[in-house]
Amino acid sequence: MEYNLDSTVVDFTGSNGVSQMKYSVRDSIAHTLILGQTGSGKTSGSARFFSLKYLSMGYAGIVLTTKPDDKKQFIEYCKIVNRLDDLIVIGVGEKNYFNFLEYESTDKTNVKSYTSNVLEILKTAFQASEEQNESYSDDPFWVSSRNMLVYNVLELCLLAYEKVSIKNIYDIVTSIPSSENTTPPDKKITGSFAHAVETARVKVNSQVETFLKQLDTDQRKALNEEHLMEAAILEAIQDAKRLKAVDRFFIQQYRDLSSKTRSIIDLSVSGFLFNLMQEPIYSLLCGHSSTVTPEDCLNNGKIVLIDLPVKLYDKAGRDAQILFKYCFQRAFEKRDVQQKSRPVFIIADEAQLFLHPKDADFQSTARSSHVAILYITQNLASFYSSMGGAKYKEKVDYLLGNFNTIIFHANTHQETNKYASELLGYEEMVEESHSENYSNNFSFGKSESKKLKPRVRPEEFVKLKSGTFENNYLVEAYMHIQSKPFSNGLHFKKVTFHQNWMPNI
Ligand SMILES: Nc1ncnc2c1ncn2[C@@H]1O[C@H](COP(=O)(O)OP(=O)(O)OP(=O)(O)O)[C@@H](O)[C@H]1O
Ligand SMILES: [Mg+2]
Repeated sequence: MEYNLDSTVVDFTGSNGVSQMKYSVRDSIAHTLILGQTGSGKTSGSARFFSLKYLSMGYAGIVLTTKPDDKKQFIEYCKIVNRLDDLIVIGVGEKNYFNFLEYESTDKTNVKSYTSNVLEILKTAFQASEEQNESYSDDPFWVSSRNMLVYNVLELCLLAYEKVSIKNIYDIVTSIPSSENTTPPDKKITGSFAHAVETARVKVNSQVETFLKQLDTDQRKALNEEHLMEAAILEAIQDAKRLKAVDRFFIQQYRDLSSKTRSIIDLSVSGFLFNLMQEPIYSLLCGHSSTVTPEDCLNNGKIVLIDLPVKLYDKAGRDAQILFKYCFQRAFEKRDVQQKSRPVFIIADEAQLFLHPKDADFQSTARSSHVAILYITQNLASFYSSMGGAKYKEKVDYLLGNFNTIIFHANTHQETNKYASELLGYEEMVEESHSENYSNNFSFGKSESKKLKPRVRPEEFVKLKSGTFENNYLVEAYMHIQSKPFSNGLHFKKVTFHQNWMPNI
């Protein structure tokens, strides 16, 4: 099926029935943010409207969940627009699985190695998880220490078992010996870490033996000295080089860290992995072969909803969904997009919960992959609190700059209302002033001066209708669209959504 970027998603008509602006697929793939206080009508007003529009126009995509009812609600949307057959729910009792480690091992682009792909995913999901902790520090020492630990554990896993699993990584991380409890030389070290090291050594040694066997006498003589032989082995056998690097990390760097530093790093990494080890998350994202992949969205028009609502599964549900979102984002970004490729959405209510450090960058390039992001959150503060580190304000500004459409519902959050008012702009106002000149026998003068006043004052946002029977189910909002103006030349419009609106299909 072919998709036209210029197709109209919403035709904004005035009360006279004349079109004031046609909002196209192209506008939607430049992303939408919905802001509004609790109960302002975000979900039942604008988010419902845009979800139904995208679904009825054949968009595929992913849906993240916060409340236990989110699944039911999206099933309802799919029913309304006859897309139920396209909906795949990953959740308890559904028998749909996405195994992210397996998916990365089948990376068709082969641009990067498996280790670096998996590392990238774990480190992004991991940092996102950490950033929401109050104790989060983006001090490069902690960030790089955690990344190096994860990288070396992945390498060790691959060298020993030729594949990685969350259970293996977790077992290894939690059994790395510290310098204080160094095992006496006469005692065999046990545990998952020791087992992995031993298995990797045996494998590499057998490659070394094969290498040595094929050397002729002259070559052996030339490599007689130990350091020359070692250099030749490391040069010829890639795995030997990798194992040496892993050895060096654990024996020279990691073991020598102070026990306090190490326990902070160990705990943060193992805590994140522990969340993924919990059921049902382990079964859904790690324990089974994939029955669903991003290609189902891209090629078969599927809508994948991950039913691990944060309100029910807490931090583990959030970590799992961030990981899921990032894997799908990466695949969406890598696809070979044609002018007529199907648009895919990423819909997240309470989107602040699922932000990760690569989001803003992804958003800035996602339009070229035809990805329409639809994020819903309460106010700017919800973004601030989920972005850790020293530069959280700059990060939020960067993120906000990448939403072509921002819909402002009723809000009492002053900073958000000020931001909205400034974004909607100012208009000139003529102000008359009277002057009296006493020195020259009482002369009176009248002068005009031009002043700027906000087109919509911050207080206006407090008064917007929030749906329900009392408001005739009407939900009001100011909608700002950066990419094109309405017929009056302005880039925003006060719009009204009806909570019981139904699309024509
Ligand atoms: N279909 C409906 N008909 C009438 N009222 C509704 C309907 N759906 C929701 N409401 C009510 O309308 C108001 C807005 O609800 P909605 O869930 O859209 O708000 P919200 O901005 O998403 O809030 P939250 O931040 O809590 O998710 C609430 O008072 C809600 O109880
Ligand atoms: Mg809501």
